[in-house]
Amino acid sequence: MLPVEAEEDSNGFRHRAESEAVRITVQGVAIPPIPPIPLIPLSPPLPGNTPHASMTDLVTVAHERSRARKKALRRKYYPRWETLWPDTPHKERMLADDFAIAAFLLELFELAQKPRFVEVGCGNGFLTYLLSQEGAVGRGLDMAPRDFWAALDGADLEKAELPLTDSGSISYSDHTQGWQCDWVLANHPDELTPYVAGLAAACSASFVTIPCCQWDFGGARFSRKCGLKSQYASYLDYIEQVADRAGFEYARCSLSISSSKNVAIVGTLEPLVGC
Ligand SMILES: C[S@@+](CC[C@H](N)C(=O)[O-])C[C@H]1O[C@@H](n2cnc3c(N)ncnc32)[C@H](O)[C@@H]1O
Repeated sequence: MLPVEAEEDSNGFRHRAESEAVRITVQGVAIPPIPPIPLIPLSPPLPGNTPHASMTDLVTVAHERSRARKKALRRKYYPRWETLWPDTPHKERMLADDFAIAAFLLELFELAQKPRFVEVGCGNGFLTYLLSQEGAVGRGLDMAPRDFWAALDGADLEKAELPLTDSGSISYSDHTQGWQCDWVLANHPDELTPYVAGLAAACSASFVTIPCCQWDFGGARFSRKCGLKSQYASYLDYIEQVADRAGFEYARCSLSISSSKNVAIVGTLEPLVGC
């Protein structure tokens, strides 16, 4: 059950009242109310919180710089991992995508001067491995450990299951104890997607999420379209609205990866340095 009144817990987080859910109209079409995020920092959401010019600049510069870095990562890591990677017809593509995403993240970390991360739903762990090898400090978490993790020398990969309950019963800070990170990262994190902003807010981190399959809170499928927008475009809007309600400034970036679900949403609670 959601709390009826807003109340503060011992961690200084505030439970939002169910009645605070708002109706949002996109291009004249009302979409269902967004389930409230129950635990958010005490500071109220910024009024008219929209993508910030400097955030957009930062993300754009990171993306531009990432092209050269992607090539450098490929030169450095491809020969070894092309051999060690489990045999799959998509090997080339999977490696190329991880080089592209890692390059973008590394440029972003450098511009923002923030190198610590936790990757949720890290899957085979290769992205966490690349970031760690390149000097970022962090770990990858996934509820399904992979045999492949053993090959990723030096990468901190752990089995951990994160909350998939409905948004009214999650204490995000229970799941982020000891994270001490600047970034919560999520690449195609499936059912975790709507929780990424809440997890980042709970540990005062920024986030980068690359949504793919469209899931809502509580493990329900997200199946809402806004006007003429595709289901995917509507979902990106929704994830940004969730981030907005948690107090984030945010910006988008289309990454150079093979998947058509290539949009990264970058969110931050405070201005990032850089550019
Ligand atoms: C589509 S895969 C993406 C894996 C990886 N990020 C990539 O892009 O290759 C989604 C991952 O999220 C993990 N996952 C889903 N729900 C989770 C949860 N509640 N807690 C931890 N991991 C979860 C799954 O085990 C899976 O490895």
